[in-house]
Amino acid sequence: MEKKITISDLSDYVGQDVTLKGWLYNKRSSGKVKFLILRDGTGYLQCIVFKGNVSEDVFKVADSLTQEASFEITGKVKREERAVGGFELDATDVKLIGESHDFPITPKEHGVEFLIDNRHLWLRSKRQVSIMKIRHRIVKAIRDFFDEKGFTLFDPPIITPNACEGTSTLFELDYFDLGKGYLTQSGQLYAEAGALALGKVYTFGPTFRAEKSKTRRHLTEFWMVEPEMAFYDLNDDMDLAEEFLEYIVQTILKEKKEDLAILERDTSKLEKVVRPFPRVSYDDAVEILKNNGVDFEWGNDFGAADETIISNQFDRPVMVHRYPSEIKAFYMKRDPENPKVALAVDVLAPEGYGEIIGGSQREDDLNLLLERIKQHDLPQSFFEWYLDLRRYGSVPHSGFGLGLERTVSWICGLEHLREAIPFPRMIYRNTP
Ligand code: 4AD
Ligand code: MG
Repeated sequence: MEKKITISDLSDYVGQDVTLKGWLYNKRSSGKVKFLILRDGTGYLQCIVFKGNVSEDVFKVADSLTQEASFEITGKVKREERAVGGFELDATDVKLIGESHDFPITPKEHGVEFLIDNRHLWLRSKRQVSIMKIRHRIVKAIRDFFDEKGFTLFDPPIITPNACEGTSTLFELDYFDLGKGYLTQSGQLYAEAGALALGKVYTFGPTFRAEKSKTRRHLTEFWMVEPEMAFYDLNDDMDLAEEFLEYIVQTILKEKKEDLAILERDTSKLEKVVRPFPRVSYDDAVEILKNNGVDFEWGNDFGAADETIISNQFDRPVMVHRYPSEIKAFYMKRDPENPKVALAVDVLAPEGYGEIIGGSQREDDLNLLLERIKQHDLPQSFFEWYLDLRRYGSVPHSGFGLGLERTVSWICGLEHLREAIPFPRMIYRNTP
């Protein structure tokens, strides 16, 4: 097999002749020289095609290359500190692979709608490539974190017979003769079965919410990672969440410097993401709002603007715990010391990025859980298997869910979740 050399390999080939393949990112000319910027997904490389060094035909090929044309180029690798990536190529041969005429996305400014219409091509631009690389590294950090701590990856079903997170955001489908099925909103209920079988598990996959809101924080299809642990109470859950977030952010700071620089991310804000994170109760958070002139009534949920005011009090993620149980999911355990609140936690990211984690200690008492299912008007028959987890060796257990795109968006400093996933799905868009 032909040896495949990429731009990221070049430090091993200084002074040698190599052949690289990729696309034309940019081109400059000055008389007898063409400067071709090659991109291959691993980096960017300035290739110098000097008229005196190549045949007339090769020089013509170099001259004819247009934005995003694919080509093969051969030449000698030089170290060049001033060039992007630190290397340059003195070309001796250029071969066209695929033409590209009038590539729709040019260096000029485009409107966002135009860019998403062309998402399949927009993904080739420098910013988008860096975002996708950071997303990939975050996913790896997530998996490494749990794998190294003895968690077992546990894949829940995507087609489910009932709601997990409220019935207002369900995507419905016809399931043969069995009636309705729904796309999962969260793998949590199944993760609980996993935790009682394996101790510590995590789910990691796509989840779906028919969100009717058109905000920069909501997708209808997003990825969520959900650890679930037997014998963990709410405090243990918060300890794990904070260690987890610190690990992700510090790993990206260390390993993705170049991509963060391309995104012009202010990394001084991310450097502050170290334990311990502040922990405030919902009651304390309401006080913060009141002290900031917000007319807020106890019992309501926080809106995006409220979350920003609360998180602006701190320089790192803040964990808000013990929310009114009325506004939280049926499965959350009530605080035995104050049954009006649930043993829940939301982690709010700094810089106005809002809730990135939602979690709780789960109701482990059979009768209390039955009561909650009735109060929430949920069909008990669908939850019999879930109730079994409380019938056979019930234990205190807890978990949380981290939204991947919200995390990518925060770490990359994006304005909108749509850039944090390759092909975003939102209320008004399911193409390309
Ligand atoms: O707070 P949520 O709804 O919690 C759950 O689903 C629990 N079952 C998790 C658990 O305890 N295992 O969602 C968790 C996270 C949110 O904090 C947010 O980061 C993300 O999922 N999320 C969304 N991300 C993008 N678009 C949406 N529409 C989202 N809804 C939730
Ligand atoms: Mg939530």
